[in-house]
Amino acid sequence: MKPQTPPQTYRVKSFGCQMNVYDGERMGELLAERGIVPAPEGEEADLVILNTCHIREKAAEKVYSDIGRLVAAGKEAGKAPLVAVAGCVAQAEGEEIMARAPAVSIVVGPQAYHRLPEMLDRAAQGERATDTDMPAIAKFDALPARRKRGPSAFLTVQEGCDKFCTYCVVPYTRGAEISRPFSHLVAEAHKLVEAGAKEITLLGQNVNAWAGEDEKGRTVGLGGLIRRLAQIDGLERIRYTTSHPNDMEDELIAAHGEVEKLMPYLHLPVQSGNDRVLKAMNRQHTAESYLRLIERFRAARPDIALSGDFIVGFPGETEAEFADTLSIVDEVRYAACFSFKYSPRPGTPAATMEGQIPPEIMDERLQRLQQRIGQHQLAFNRASVGKTCTVLVERKGRHEGQWLGKSPWLQSVHFTGEHAIGDLVEVTLAEAGPNSLGGILRQTVTV
Ligand code: 5AD
Ligand code: SF4
Repeated sequence: MKPQTPPQTYRVKSFGCQMNVYDGERMGELLAERGIVPAPEGEEADLVILNTCHIREKAAEKVYSDIGRLVAAGKEAGKAPLVAVAGCVAQAEGEEIMARAPAVSIVVGPQAYHRLPEMLDRAAQGERATDTDMPAIAKFDALPARRKRGPSAFLTVQEGCDKFCTYCVVPYTRGAEISRPFSHLVAEAHKLVEAGAKEITLLGQNVNAWAGEDEKGRTVGLGGLIRRLAQIDGLERIRYTTSHPNDMEDELIAAHGEVEKLMPYLHLPVQSGNDRVLKAMNRQHTAESYLRLIERFRAARPDIALSGDFIVGFPGETEAEFADTLSIVDEVRYAACFSFKYSPRPGTPAATMEGQIPPEIMDERLQRLQQRIGQHQLAFNRASVGKTCTVLVERKGRHEGQWLGKSPWLQSVHFTGEHAIGDLVEVTLAEAGPNSLGGILRQTVTV
């Protein structure tokens, strides 16, 4: 490759989960340290980072077609951008990407992106650089301070997964479970609040597996961390995602009843409502144990909104087994859900299991599942009408004087009035649709 002039502008395109959004923000902060700024809207960037997701099908193909598009746009503009591929596709298929896509200068995995500046130096010399090491916690220590963001911020507290569900690539792309130290998280949360965050969502592939030592040297779990973060003045709301049913501790369940700043919302994937399928998925819980766990959360916090992830068409799934998934949706009455068609991921045990389900059956099951989920979501929103709650204002709405924000139950709420982004306002929920609610403004709680 020819030596390149160092980039002055960048754009990060993050795909997939919120952990990637967090990583993308932190890459931006690293670049800012070097004086590289976000490319203005509508302008080509000198450096484009594709922060990829590998969780479902066609991930790699999407990356190659994105690279193709970037190269074509660069040709048209008379200047090829420096292309970096980051995220989980980079981790899983780094070598293939380098071999197949000569336009790519940098391949960097999710645990190595703190080394991006050095890799840019090498790219400036005309070298191509790959780094898919997994040096555990080193990344976070090497990252610069947090910068000003919107009122709702992400904070990665835990990464990786040791669960090895048979369909999932995460244990291979993100590595083993690690917890960031308590003191680092408290410090980063303070920085986020100083930078304007009112709400922090704690992130981890298995966020409730987080464990650490508090200021007094006591071993604490996520519930303990949340109690400590709740003491930060100016931080008004705490959320966390994504949890695994088997890592739920009493302390975290109790926190839902006792910590006011902890929002009444729980994302707890179940994947299937059938025990044979759950076993084949290596989920290590049953439908019944999941339901019992949900009951404990409801006992601690009766108004808690529940959300889940589902996979339809796992190898061997029969119609009757799929019907159990519909039943568990009815039983839990979720407020929101994410549902996916099973996608065989290379290198995972399920990819070579017998009984792969034809796409048309998967389509049909997904449709039925989403319809059922939609009914419960609408019912949940309708049941909220008449409640008065706080809404954190996140952005302007489409209409003059309209604002959009989130209720404690993570519903999108729109209302009109004199306000600013980051205000916490009291709103009475007045009308409900499947995906949002309309509210009537009562008062501003904090500004
Ligand atoms: N196919 C379909 N969905 C998957 N998920 C993870 N791996 C796969 C796969 N191979 C879903 C799960 C998980 C969510 C993040 O993505 O539901 O909880
Ligand atoms: Fe994947 Fe299962 Fe780990 Fe979730 S718990 S990241 S689905 S292996």
